[in-house]
Amino acid sequence: MPIVQVENIHKHFGSIEVLKGVSLNVDAGQVVAVIGRSGSGKSTMLRCLNGLEAVSSGSIQIAGHRLDSGGHHLRELRKDVGIVFQSYNLFPHLTVGENIMLAPRITKGLSHDAVHRIAKDKLAQVGLSEKFDAYPEKLSGGQQQRVAIARSLAMQPKVMLFDEVTSALDPELTGEVLVVMENLAKEGMTMLLVTHEMGFAKSVADITVFMHQGKVWESGPSATLFSAPQTPELRQFIGGSLK
Ligand SMILES: Nc1ncnc2c1ncn2[C@@H]1O[C@H](COP(=O)(O)OP(=O)(O)OP(=O)(O)O)[C@@H](O)[C@H]1O
Ligand SMILES: [Mg+2]
Repeated sequence: MPIVQVENIHKHFGSIEVLKGVSLNVDAGQVVAVIGRSGSGKSTMLRCLNGLEAVSSGSIQIAGHRLDSGGHHLRELRKDVGIVFQSYNLFPHLTVGENIMLAPRITKGLSHDAVHRIAKDKLAQVGLSEKFDAYPEKLSGGQQQRVAIARSLAMQPKVMLFDEVTSALDPELTGEVLVVMENLAKEGMTMLLVTHEMGFAKSVADITVFMHQGKVWESGPSATLFSAPQTPELRQFIGGSLK
């Protein structure tokens, strides 16, 4: 059974319908890239997946949790579904290690030693072992984003969501964050990522989903989708972004 099942979700903001019946399945260990024009509903869909937005109708099953237009058990959901945004929002008054340990310490009831071990481990995973005691302001944007990823991984999620995590970074810092994400993918993490990095989508994502006007316009294995787009909208989008 897929670890993520999105069934015909609609999302309205007032009278505007932003998601118009989106369905999507993700298998465990799959990497899915979501691409599309600004305003097509990519972030809204991702935010629905971890309950930051409630859907207007339709349903979502993710990592064993069910989300619909009714109530949610968000605290439980957040242990299993991590999300990283363009803005990393580390606490400036806490060290890198403290930033990473905060959420697991509060929500998981683990000993200090256990949380410390997890934090060290996740920081190593993003290649920043030596920064455990540093303050965020001493780090580059790319390093801060890698810490934000480690912070999310420290919750030991089953699914990771990424919303344009490299968009705020200078090109020379983007690569180091993409490497971290590619390694995560190789280790078998289930990932859904909204990205403008078409090369990354093409080479790392198993499946690419093209959203257009609040719908999944086209989706399929990344290699096929990029080499043989079926709709003029995707053809135009790819043409424009590869120039
Ligand atoms: N909280 C909100 N209230 C009202 N409208 C919203 C809200 N959030 C998003 N929208 C609208 O929903 C539409 C889809 O927005 P969304 O952020 O999902 O697009 P996106 O595909 O992520 O775009 P981008 O590539 O610019 O990040 C836009 O028209 C946006 O203005
Ligand atoms: Mg967005």
